[in-house]
Amino acid sequence: MSNLSLFKPFSLKSLNIKNRIVMAPMTRSFSPNGVPGDDVAAYYQRRAAGEVGLILSEGTVINRPASSADPNIPRFHGDISLGGWQKVINGVHAAGGAMGPQIWHQGIMDNHHSGWTPLTPFEGPSGLNRPENTNGHAMSEKDIADTIKAFGDAAADAKRLGFDTVEIHGAHNYLIDQFFSDKTNHRTDKYGGKSLAERTRFAVEVIKEVRKRVGEDFPLIIRLSQWKPYEYNGKMANTPEELEAWLQPLAEAGIDIFHCSQRRFWEPEFEESDLNFAGWAKKVTGKATITVGSVGLNGEFLAAFKGESSEPSSLEELLRRFDRGDFDLVAVGRPLLADSDWVKKIKDERTGELKGFSKEALAQLL
Ligand SMILES: Cc1cc2nc3c(=O)[nH]c(=O)nc-3n(C[C@H](O)[C@H](O)[C@H](O)COP(=O)(O)O)c2cc1C
Repeated sequence: MSNLSLFKPFSLKSLNIKNRIVMAPMTRSFSPNGVPGDDVAAYYQRRAAGEVGLILSEGTVINRPASSADPNIPRFHGDISLGGWQKVINGVHAAGGAMGPQIWHQGIMDNHHSGWTPLTPFEGPSGLNRPENTNGHAMSEKDIADTIKAFGDAAADAKRLGFDTVEIHGAHNYLIDQFFSDKTNHRTDKYGGKSLAERTRFAVEVIKEVRKRVGEDFPLIIRLSQWKPYEYNGKMANTPEELEAWLQPLAEAGIDIFHCSQRRFWEPEFEESDLNFAGWAKKVTGKATITVGSVGLNGEFLAAFKGESSEPSSLEELLRRFDRGDFDLVAVGRPLLADSDWVKKIKDERTGELKGFSKEALAQLL
């Protein structure tokens, strides 16, 4: 089966990319004191030179005192950090690539293994980061308003620096997802509620603010997950109807592309059909979607953190779904972390040269 369909260009609003392959956002913690340095810029530039269509940055935190649980995660605020990001996007553009930062507030976290803590306690909807585990405080309405503004500031800065898009991190039990979930959002004000649709309010206000700050023509992506790190098989939406009730308000608020995080892209989301999360998101919203999860590898990514290696695997099932129109873009994580030329090798069908993924790749900026 030919890989050619993945190499058709894609355009949406002001975004124009040369192929359908997206580098998935991957935290690297290689930005001392939150500043991405020349090594980080060179790492992203290598992916652009390696013909990745769209690079999404590692999660990079917004301007709130407790938005980060790790001092080496890059910030997306302050002149010094933004100066680092300016070099990143200039390098990516010089190599013919396109890129968006993944803007992030981590919400209520466990304490960092080093003992480092942010200036103020962690903040989230109800102080919980999973059931029965409190490690921060419930945000006041002012905290919420300031956080929404900080997301808007980050997006406006991304556009000002010349980035091509912005991805809002709404997945994986970080702040926005903590608002979505009834396990971590027990609020009784307008940011809580019994239904998932009611609990989208915080995300909707973030998206509206971001949209207001970047204008209509700038494409906006949101990353969402059904799973959480404490509950791999959990689901936010149990039926297509619930999925629509979750995603439609986000689409109406201004999202152009849903980035649907799965650990294995081939797993069906609901019983009715073999459509995956991105397939259903596209079906219920009509918006563009990105799929992700073990593309080109035979083992999933959370096992990689436990030191498990993965070997290259065929793209046949991915292409079957892509050619059927299930999703528009395909995000690739670990293969691109290990090999900046992965896209070129796929394009040229040099499958014998593909590398697997091993934990050594996590320890350096290859
Ligand atoms: C080292 C590492 C860091 C990650 N950091 C992030 C992150 O900052 N934001 C995010 O949304 N997902 C993050 N992820 C998840 C990836 O974006 C991706 O969804 C996951 O690795 C599955 O894709 P893969 O199987 O192609 O690796 C990370 C994954 C890895 C391996």
